[in-house]
Amino acid sequence: MLAWTMARRLFIALELPEDSREALAAVATPLPGARWLAAEQLHLTLAFLGNVDVETEQRLRHCLALIRVPSFGLRLHGVGVFGGRRPTVIWAGVEPDHEGLLTLHRQVHRTLEAVPITVDAARFRPHITLARLKEVPHHMLRPWLRTIQTRDFGVAGCRHFSLFASTLGPAGAVHDLVERYTLTDTLAAGQTPRSGS
Ligand code: 2AM
Repeated sequence: MLAWTMARRLFIALELPEDSREALAAVATPLPGARWLAAEQLHLTLAFLGNVDVETEQRLRHCLALIRVPSFGLRLHGVGVFGGRRPTVIWAGVEPDHEGLLTLHRQVHRTLEAVPITVDAARFRPHITLARLKEVPHHMLRPWLRTIQTRDFGVAGCRHFSLFASTLGPAGAVHDLVERYTLTDTLAAGQTPRSGS
């Protein structure tokens, strides 16, 4: 079988601890045209790769395992929308310019270049998608957004990042964990981790 026919649709994301996901999912409110994501689906995408063939995936997994970035706490803060007058996504934000997150994002993208896998180089706007919207005019969202736009969700402990496969289906995409990659112990930042640690 051709490797391409076995390609998987992959993305790399930060998983969030359960208490953070529960706090984020509690934002859901009945809004006609909104499809809210379940708590277990919430994540922060670092890179969307699209279809990747089996050989490239193997190379990618090997390279991702070589990334050394310290674990970090990330404050989840604020709620907003993408899409202007016809919003498409309700998101939760993170504290701006977080060094740990930006370092991880940079390392992941350097790794993709090395594999090589080409991805959309659009500016990184770190967010957690809470809902996808269809035909919801912005003015309908505005009163609710005002009540929630500065909500704080506390600090999420981020100790690994993950490779996921996404399968499109009639009920939306199903995300399956492919592999997790541990971030290094914060105390050992800058040091070379010992093998087996
Ligand atoms: P988002 O919800 O934060 O936008 C898996 O599909 C993940 O990859 C989605 O959660 C989505 O993150 C992100 N993604 C980014 N670009 C995408 C694209 N062109 N198609 C599908 N997903 C994309």
